[in-house]
Amino acid sequence: MSRTLPKSYHVKSFGCQMNVYDGERMAELLDAQGMMMAESADTADLVILNTCHIREKAAEKVYSDIGRLRREDGSSPMIAVAGCVAQAEGAEIPRRAKEVDIVVGPQAYHNLPELVAKAARGENALDTDMPAASKFGSLPKRAQQAPSAFLTVQEGCDKFCTYCVVPYTRGAEVSRPWRAVVDEAKALVDAGAKEITLLGQNVNAWEAEDERGRKQGLDGLIRALDAIEGLARIRYTTSHPKDMRDGLITAHGEIDTLMPYLHLPVQSGSDTILKAMNRSHSVGSYFRIIERVREARPDIAISGDFIVGFPGETDADFEATLDVVRAINYAQAYSFKYSARPGTPAAAMDDDFVAPEIADQRLQRLQKLLNDQQIAFNRTTVGRRTTLLLERDGKKPGQRVGKSPWLQSVHVETDASIGSLIDVDIVGAGPKSLAGALPERKAA
Ligand code: 5AD
Ligand code: SF4
Repeated sequence: MSRTLPKSYHVKSFGCQMNVYDGERMAELLDAQGMMMAESADTADLVILNTCHIREKAAEKVYSDIGRLRREDGSSPMIAVAGCVAQAEGAEIPRRAKEVDIVVGPQAYHNLPELVAKAARGENALDTDMPAASKFGSLPKRAQQAPSAFLTVQEGCDKFCTYCVVPYTRGAEVSRPWRAVVDEAKALVDAGAKEITLLGQNVNAWEAEDERGRKQGLDGLIRALDAIEGLARIRYTTSHPKDMRDGLITAHGEIDTLMPYLHLPVQSGSDTILKAMNRSHSVGSYFRIIERVREARPDIAISGDFIVGFPGETDADFEATLDVVRAINYAQAYSFKYSARPGTPAAAMDDDFVAPEIADQRLQRLQKLLNDQQIAFNRTTVGRRTTLLLERDGKKPGQRVGKSPWLQSVHVETDASIGSLIDVDIVGAGPKSLAGALPERKAA
């Protein structure tokens, strides 16, 4: 069935920050086609579900989201399924959900305008290719930016942790070239960004040759971005312990614009489980990295990811994870119950699964500990004078919300504009956010 070309669109992104970045780039691409962003999925001619496949029920959730897009009069907008579920499920999606018009994988969304035109003609619009030429070259220049912007510099993963779908949905590790990244960073700053978070599934594996043909790692790239006038803050995520090289560790002690925050997943505190996960690091090597990063930058906030209930995880393995958490002392962390992903090696280890009630209990204990640590970390920042990047209005009149260097949200009463960097004293701490106050001006 052919239909009219959509005039407005709405992108709904799920999952990781790379999906948020992809969602923004899709929006810019459609803007460049003359389409308008609609406030909500209810009023858009085209709805893009930018999906995540990392954990359980992702695909089921997409099908129920698709069902919910149907309007009261029985009609549906044009629907595109993008992201990792699109990559993994492909043609199965329109087979199961007839109302889906477009399926587009994470490496193919630069073809979205063509796919939209095809769908409007009633043709099959599916693209899950992973072309050799990068999509980035075909995307428009960066548009108006919020104070804090994402910049994907690396995609894909060659690590093949046995539980993870990413190597299958996002493909092999690829670093974007030096020039492309530096130019995009400059364009983001010109468009209003004060902070850039460099993104990659294994962002610290990024490497490329600079203009003079020298091989550079992520630390070299951070140094180049540090030289961009108007860029006040640089962050990066997510890193793998295996790629945490010396240069990057020392950069934390040397570059002021590099924020004191490191997200470094360990996943488990048991070497047996780490081996079964094919993590290619041990508990000991993880500790040494954290020790050295803390030497370079004593106030650094450490964050991580954990999986509980991996096949074969015993009580003792789990206790070892709690020991690691106690020893590291996290400022913030994410923890998940293991979920078998179809097609991954761990999904075939089903003879050794952990009972769901046990996994639930372990997750609760771990989350309680991590939560307590987060509150304790937030309390340690009370009394400090620090800088906030103001990102949005708060709920109360006259209030703004900004980020501290340690990625905490801080509420403060100020008339300084969004995008400014202001000094505040941290005066209170809750589990999720802090209160700041403007330093009292000294009497003249
Ligand atoms: N089950 C549970 N958690 C997972 N993660 C990745 N794959 C799985 C899975 N199959 C978690 C890891 C990773 C984070 C992004 O998601 O902790 O670091
Ligand atoms: Fe998945 Fe492991 Fe690659 Fe991270 S490093 S994306 S957890 S396979």
